Amino acid sequence: MPISLIINNKAITAPEGATILEAAHSAGIDIPTLCHHPDLGDVGACRMCVVSVQGARALQTACTAPAAEGMVVDTMSAEAVESRRFVLEMLLTDHPNDCMGCEVAGDCDLQDLVYDYQVEWPEHNGDRHQYEINPDPNPFILIDRNKCILCSRCIRACSEIQNRDVWSFAYRGFKSKLVAGADQMLIEAGCETCGQCVAYCPVGALQDKMSLGLGRANQVKKVRTTCSYCGVGCQFDLNVRNNKIVRVTSSEDAPVNGMALCVKGRYGYDYVHHPDRLTRPLVRAKWLGLEAVAEEVNGGRWSVVSEAQQRLVGHGHQPTSGNGTQHATRNTQHVVSSDTYIETDWDTALDVVANKFTEEKKAHGGDAFALLASAKCTNEENFIFNKFTRQMLATHSIDHCARL
Ligand code: SF4
Ligand code: SF4
Ligand code: SF4
Ligand code: FES
Repeated sequence: MPISLIINNKAITAPEGATILEAAHSAGIDIPTLCHHPDLGDVGACRMCVVSVQGARALQTACTAPAAEGMVVDTMSAEAVESRRFVLEMLLTDHPNDCMGCEVAGDCDLQDLVYDYQVEWPEHNGDRHQYEINPDPNPFILIDRNKCILCSRCIRACSEIQNRDVWSFAYRGFKSKLVAGADQMLIEAGCETCGQCVAYCPVGALQDKMSLGLGRANQVKKVRTTCSYCGVGCQFDLNVRNNKIVRVTSSEDAPVNGMALCVKGRYGYDYVHHPDRLTRPLVRAKWLGLEAVAEEVNGGRWSVVSEAQQRLVGHGHQPTSGNGTQHATRNTQHVVSSDTYIETDWDTALDVVANKFTEEKKAHGGDAFALLASAKCTNEENFIFNKFTRQMLATHSIDHCARL
């Protein structure tokens, strides 16, 4: 049964069991948080969300305190605001003052709150941690414990979402710190490099190593896409700067996966700009006809690649060849054998495939073909593949790699 309460003089109804934070959010009332994330269980660690509740002896943490019938809450009482300012100041007593150079500036919950609550970075002669930056050789995750606010979001993300339980807090008092396993390297602690912990870290204590220096949140354009690695269909945002992908970020509104991604989706994007990536189709010269190859290569529309490129015979040389043919490009001479790969255009390559399919079907019938579909394709692609196999090629010899 819904409950009724008053928050900031506004009458609100909320579902039974809702926290004060959830009740406030459902009414569009913001309460600042650091350790809370809606995907994760609440632990009430940071005390940023404290609010005044009429009749209560002390401030309540809105993320853990249940809303109750008839409750009267003030989220911006002088006490609550002062308490938040104190929490922020305490965090800054042990935080580097380097937002200017910080990778996550502009995308940092602590930075935003310090700005909102106008807290100064405190000069003091007491201890500040001086942890080694990037102490772990993991190729994707950078750890900077100097920026850790001990909120435990990474611990809960790893445990509750990824079920790995890699992270925990070790030691006591000022020596408390985030550790992987028994203060080990990530790999020794069973990390599978999904990057969930990085995605949930509200500050710059965990960062994406591949993206360092390539663009902050406000310098990139986010382009939503669907992962091409498998058929699950996770969605994420490619962070693009100067036409180059500099990072992948997951998003709470991705319908299949929410914030979760595996290592391939989150960190497997460097192939896009890899110099070895094929961006045009390669067709063996024998399927194109050696005369056509000579003409198109000379015209600059196709090019000779692979072994033929390595067997470049030099300017003006008149080559002879046993089983191949010779042709002159604009500047160079290549020996092209029937098996040489030629970089063509898509229309040409697809025509070659279509003509060959037609030829084989005429000569041997549809059962000359057997087709294997892939779990890396989308459902829609596999559906089309199925139709193509049965209706165009006229065979039922189709299978799927997931069954093998
Ligand atoms: S983590 Fe946030 S508060 Fe800390 S230096 Fe970076 S931007 Fe500033
Ligand atoms: S990368 Fe994934 S598995 Fe590794 S510590 Fe982070 S959340 Fe856990
Ligand atoms: S690394 Fe980030 S998420 Fe983990 S405890 Fe520190 S600040 Fe919180
Ligand atoms: S957000 Fe409630 S205690 Fe941290």
